[in-house]
Amino acid sequence: MSKLFINIKELVQVREHTNTPLRGKEMDELPSIKNAFLWLEDGFIKDYGRMDNYHSHPAQEVYDCSDQIITPGYIDSHTHLVFAATREKEFEDRIHGLSYEEIASRGGGILNSAAALEKMTEEELFEQARSRLDQVVAQGTVAIEIKSGYGLSVASELKILRVVSRLRESGTTSHHKIPIKSTFLGAHAFPLKYKKDRKAYINLIIDEMLPKIAEEHLADYIDVFCEQNYFTVKEMLRILEAGSAYGLKAKVHVNQFNALGAIEAAVQAGAVSVDHLEVMQASDFTALAGSRTIATALPSCSFFLGLEYAPVNEMIEQDIAVSLASDYNPGSTPSGNLNFVYSLACIKMNMSPQRAFNALTINAAHALELQEELGSITIGKKANLMIFKNIESMASIPYNFGQVVIDQVVVNGQFI
Ligand code: NIG
Ligand code: FE
Repeated sequence: MSKLFINIKELVQVREHTNTPLRGKEMDELPSIKNAFLWLEDGFIKDYGRMDNYHSHPAQEVYDCSDQIITPGYIDSHTHLVFAATREKEFEDRIHGLSYEEIASRGGGILNSAAALEKMTEEELFEQARSRLDQVVAQGTVAIEIKSGYGLSVASELKILRVVSRLRESGTTSHHKIPIKSTFLGAHAFPLKYKKDRKAYINLIIDEMLPKIAEEHLADYIDVFCEQNYFTVKEMLRILEAGSAYGLKAKVHVNQFNALGAIEAAVQAGAVSVDHLEVMQASDFTALAGSRTIATALPSCSFFLGLEYAPVNEMIEQDIAVSLASDYNPGSTPSGNLNFVYSLACIKMNMSPQRAFNALTINAAHALELQEELGSITIGKKANLMIFKNIESMASIPYNFGQVVIDQVVVNGQFI
């Protein structure tokens, strides 16, 4: 199957080389071609360029796009998309004055989600997660990471990761398959029965969960929620080391409420990304500057919980590679809409539309090690795209906050 788009008003995020994440001033550039053509074949980008240089390509379908802007789709490098139940009660409790931490310390929060998930069958979980996947793909997400972490027992953690694996195999309800990376987050919280014996739960993660997950090839990465009342830096390092023995690289939750020194430790452990980063101290910037670890900010979480926003512009100025993701989960971010993340990044974090789009596409691809497949308009990459009709410029996307201005999403060269 081949498609040819001609007279494209603007083809955005056009890059020949994408083997290193963007840093500093590179984040300010969003290379594009005005009056462009784009040729897709068998689900991949085969050619693109200026209409002036266009030589005919054999295509089964030809589209005139003089009113359209075409870009690569978004990449969501941090989600907890597989969950059993929403948590509106806690939402109302927060409105009436309780904090996220207070709710968690009363047995709400993650433990509440784990209790609901334990009761749900794999089939039900799969159906619910698949309809969430349908929704985020329609909103422009063309690759996604999904974490476990609402299981907290051997059986339930495996149940979540099997659902992720089934989503990867089956794709959306209409069978559109997007790349899905899977992350084992057994270290999301301590189950109540282990509150007084933390070591026993960590041993369960290391000695029972990890070997089974590795045996069934159920995870690409390992994650730990390193935070006061959750896992310490020392505990995180022990778990990351155990994961690394099975070939799982680290992507970790750090600095959401407190700066504990976790960033430096994670960078030294070779983490692919450190995520959240609402609370940063000087040594965290130093540890990340120039390192290969991607700093992933999650502005929808700050929005929903009323937290500080990660200081992304300061990070970019200090040579840190920044990406953006949704954090889709029932507790702190009940939305996987990256168009809204784009708006928040511009409105609340003061990122320019160029910086934020780079963070949502090519740098997000690096945060999932998918930079050779996705994240830009590059010959040979997957044809996973967004098409915008009748918009002024890229700034129109974040400007129209709360709305999805995408006209069409393309996955593997097909309209969804
Ligand atoms: O990334 N911070 C830890 N985990 C999730 C939220 C967990 C929950 O409240 O269910 C997050 O925000
Ligand atoms: Fe998260």
